[in-house]
Amino acid sequence: MAEIRIRNTNERIAGEDEVRAFLTKQNVLYEHWDTSKLPSELHEKFVLSDDEKAQLLSTYDAEIRDLAGRRGYKVWDIVALSEATPNLPELLKKFEQVHTHTEDEVRAITAGRGIFIIKGDDETGYFDVELSAGDVISVPEGQPHFFTLMENKAIVAVRLFIEPAGWVADPFEDPTFVK
Ligand SMILES: [Fe+2]
Repeated sequence: MAEIRIRNTNERIAGEDEVRAFLTKQNVLYEHWDTSKLPSELHEKFVLSDDEKAQLLSTYDAEIRDLAGRRGYKVWDIVALSEATPNLPELLKKFEQVHTHTEDEVRAITAGRGIFIIKGDDETGYFDVELSAGDVISVPEGQPHFFTLMENKAIVAVRLFIEPAGWVADPFEDPTFVK
């Protein structure tokens, strides 16, 4: 289940209702999928064949189509990252820069962990959303953020998009951001 850390105060927010209430106030969508639907061999598998990716997508077909129907996503795929990913350190270096997109960034975590760092309202400042399997998040279009892995360096997630142009990251220069 997701947890929040507000960077300015180090305050942590846990518990599904509390996390959802906080994220809703920050215009970030938060939902949860049932991880028990996933075949057990895919719970901790981070290098996936095309067949396994297809199996994952079909397991969550109803959830994906429901989310897509409500929010206009037209394409979806699976992203799997781990220490087996070629050039992972370079990839993470590229990821770890505050940016925006012209469409929202949706991730449904199906295995492993990941973290979104998001610029909140003026009073809150930047906050971290630590995600684990079952967590579904959408960072709104135009909201500065970046995504990275956590200590275990492994994640599998479903990504949903409205159109390919929305994938492009526009750098957001923010001198107030402290890593
Ligand atoms: Fe992004």
